[in-house]
Formats: sequence, C-alpha cells, structure tokens
Amino acid sequence: MPHTPASDGREPWRVSVLTLFPEMFPGPLGVSLVGQALAAGLWSLSCVQIRDFGLGRHAQVDDTPAGGGAGMVLRADVLGAAIDHARQAAPDVPLVYLSPRGTPLDQTLVRELSAGPGVMLLAGRFEGIDERVIEGRGMREISIGDYVLSGGELAAMVLVDACVRLLPGVIGAPASLTHESFETGLLEYPQYTRPREWEGRSIPDVLLSGDHGRIERWRREEAERITRARRPDLLARKQGV
Ligand SMILES: C[S@@+](CC[C@H](N)C(=O)[O-])C[C@H]1O[C@@H](n2cnc3c(N)ncnc32)[C@H](O)[C@@H]1O
Repeated sequence: MPHTPASDGREPWRVSVLTLFPEMFPGPLGVSLVGQALAAGLWSLSCVQIRDFGLGRHAQVDDTPAGGGAGMVLRADVLGAAIDHARQAAPDVPLVYLSPRGTPLDQTLVRELSAGPGVMLLAGRFEGIDERVIEGRGMREISIGDYVLSGGELAAMVLVDACVRLLPGVIGAPASLTHESFETGLLEYPQYTRPREWEGRSIPDVLLSGDHGRIERWRREEAERITRARRPDLLARKQGV
C-alpha cells in the first residue's frame, strides 16, 4: 500500500505485518481516526505474505511438531526468510511476535512502542511458530490477553490501533487522551451527554453545576471507586503496594 509522508513532513510510524492473510489488512484499521491517519500518512502499513517464502511446489510454510502432537508449526527457515526480506525496508523497528505467551500489552507498552519508529509484527497461525526463529531474530513476544485467538492478525490490529491513536496529530484534542483509562493509573470515570433525562435516569447534578473544581473532584472519586471495585490490582500498583 503506497504511503506519502505526513503533510508536515514527519516520517510515518511504520508498520509491517508478516501474515498468511494479508487480505485482512487494513480491515478495521482503514476506518475512522486510525484510517484517516493512514490516509494522511501519519502511519504506513505494508504486509508481507509469508507464503511467498514457502517451500516447493505447494509453497509449504508449516510442518508437523517435532516430538509429535496435534497441529502444525510455522517453519523457522520460511519465517526467517520472510523476516529478512521485510527487514530490508524497515531495519530499525522492533520485531514483535504476537503470542499468548508474550508480555501482556498494556498502556505503558503501547506508549513505548508508539514513541518509536514503528513495529514489525509477525502474526502466527496453527500451533504457533518454531522457537528458533524467536531466538534467532531476537523477537519480542507480546500478548493481547489471556485467551487464545486462531491467529495473530487480530492481535496485530489491536496493538496497531492502540499505538496509532497516540501518534501526534491523530486525535484532534490530545487532552482527551490524558484522562483516559490507564493513563492516570485508574479506570475512567462515567461519561454522560444529552439528553439530560433518559428513561428516568438523570445526568448527575454536579456535572451540570459549572463548578470545574467540584466536577474534577467528582470524576477523580468516581474513577477511584470504579477502579477499586473492578481492578484493585491497578490501585495497588499505583500506590506501589
Ligand atoms: C492458535 S494460536 C497458537 C496458540 C499456541 N499453541 C499456544 O498454546 O500458545 C495461533 C496464533 O495466534 C496468535 N495468538 C493467539 N492468541 C494470542 C494472544 N492472546 N495474543 C497475541 N497473539 C495471539 C499467535 O500469533 C499464535 O501463533
């Protein structure tokens, strides 16, 4: 997919995805804020078809697991060749394998990745990939949660979406980022908008008071209450317990 630099001349945040299903991209990354940012050249996307590096007449990419067992494993030689090819165009971006075994993706990691030059993402399939390619190419493993997807493509999209919205110029009012869940170490307070009454439920009076000090205090207390009830682990981490 061709990409021009952003209108202010900044280099785009570069994403390359190694996948057996490049037709899944940009998919949901092509719409709304993130899609507009792609069209504006704030980030770029290229996909590498792993099968182009497959072996033999059938372009084989996988094989049976050494030691036996169910399913198939993506071959190290095929993935190594695909990665080396992709590296020529993006030698300096971190190489990530999306994997349920990886470091959990959180807002701190998202911030770290979005502050860099971009990412190269390997989306696994089947039973996963040969361990030697993880070691041999120095891949960082990242998980999007404690559940198993059928492939790494959706996980790659989640990571890219979360990073791209932090890039300068993607969100019109960057202040809206600073109050979001996790940015303050807390979950977000409840949000309301018109109408003032809906099915017998009112917007809390304090939010209509115009008293910004009181509103700020109420939001803070609500954020703490919700975090305590739903994610006490976040509060404990914030308090250094
Ligand atoms: C069916 S999964 C393989 C699961 C593997 N056998 C295991 O038990 O860890 C196929 C691919 O989906 C991706 N995947 C699955 N769950 C994921 C998660 N929670 N986070 C990131 N990637 C995931 C990985 O790229 C993985 O190689």
